[in-house]
Amino acid sequence: MKVLVYGSGGRDHCLADKYGDSQHVDKVYFAPGNPGVFYTPKGKRGLIERIPIKDFREISDFCIENKVELVDVGSENPLEEGLIDILNEKGIKTIGPKKEYVRIESDRAFTDSLLEEIGVSKPEFRVFDNPEDAKRYVRNIGYQVVVKANGLAAGKGCIVCDDVEDAEKAIEDIMVKKIFGDSGNKIVIEERKYGTELSFFVYLDGEHILPLKMFAQDYKRAFDPDDKESIEKFGGNPNTGGTGAYCPHRLVKPWLINRIIKEIVNPTVDAIYNKLGWKYKGVLYFGLNLDPYNNLDVFEINVRHGDPEWLVIARKLSTDLFEIGMAVWEGKLDQIKQVWNNQYYVDVVAMEGRSKAARGWNKGYPGRYGKGHKIVGLDEIEPGIAIYFAGVDEDPEKGLVTYGGRVLHIVAGDNTLEGARDKAYRNIQKIRFIDHKNNDQNCMRYRKTIGYLLSDDLVEL
Ligand code: GLY
Repeated sequence: MKVLVYGSGGRDHCLADKYGDSQHVDKVYFAPGNPGVFYTPKGKRGLIERIPIKDFREISDFCIENKVELVDVGSENPLEEGLIDILNEKGIKTIGPKKEYVRIESDRAFTDSLLEEIGVSKPEFRVFDNPEDAKRYVRNIGYQVVVKANGLAAGKGCIVCDDVEDAEKAIEDIMVKKIFGDSGNKIVIEERKYGTELSFFVYLDGEHILPLKMFAQDYKRAFDPDDKESIEKFGGNPNTGGTGAYCPHRLVKPWLINRIIKEIVNPTVDAIYNKLGWKYKGVLYFGLNLDPYNNLDVFEINVRHGDPEWLVIARKLSTDLFEIGMAVWEGKLDQIKQVWNNQYYVDVVAMEGRSKAARGWNKGYPGRYGKGHKIVGLDEIEPGIAIYFAGVDEDPEKGLVTYGGRVLHIVAGDNTLEGARDKAYRNIQKIRFIDHKNNDQNCMRYRKTIGYLLSDDLVEL
């Protein structure tokens, strides 16, 4: 069988890799993909092939001409732009929600109101489309808040605020300066919660559900909490799309998985199928928080896997992904048995750090970052470690170079969490991004605390 994965980031590369492991699949097309795949074993063998086509109609023609059995659309933007609808019109089998259903991620106000209506617990929230009203509100409430752009913002649309000054600045940045574009025309202001975050994935086939009985933790802040020097240089410690993840999350226990399914997943999916009447086929990602008082809250719901969480969960999942994908399409998820291996996995993201700009300095991801830095050290990575590429490009002279803020992921597995962490950190240190404008210094940076318990994580078993 041939599968096509549409996307170009780390999550999409990992999806392509996972389909490549299927006993049913002999070719995975990765479109528009990224040139990093040529540097991986499956890319070198031609099992994964990059097809640099972006246009949806051309993708549809390609799938028909090449007899592609199944298309998996990995990220929210092409889903929102209606890729699934276009493919389905031509009779192509897909995984991913139709354009109409992407609203559950792209319109926070809609989803928060739905959750409130059906009694699913989430932090207290208010919706605003006027910055002055929003500022007045944050001046008059006695708790800390998170200010969220209502629309899509590549996982970065939440600003966590310590005080009123922070909150007013966040409102100004999102609604007036439009740092997330039109996604910030409307905002949701939510009570800030403390505790442990966890990312939980569920597959839907329009009729049944398959909740993955495994979850991961994402490390969203740009810097390690004790890295005061970097935080000061950067001017804060903002949220990113994710700087690393580990799995199994230390709270993976049957009692908590059952609570998540009963309190959050079942009522939400029931509302999707029966209240909204949606024949949703694809994945739902629940961003959850367990606070020190044992309250379980929904922070967000997304229409795709989390990145980087998927990269560790995928490594741990032993069930054939093609079989899950076909079951999603055919409405047979009730027949899928989930199997997990007994390893721990740690993903550390290699990011664009501080680098020399034409004038002055680039602050590095998630601020302005440089591009075109040669990536070296890939040949030194130990066997058995997965490299998933994200923001990379191919330069005719330099070879593989950086192109985005999150450049690549190093994912290591071991019998223990400590072992997986050690391997991931030992290997990421072999990677360097050459800053040609700064005497060939290394401008790659990574967080040092992935897989560790941080002081923010207040919940203990
Ligand atoms: N890791 C956060 C996200 O995928 O949105």
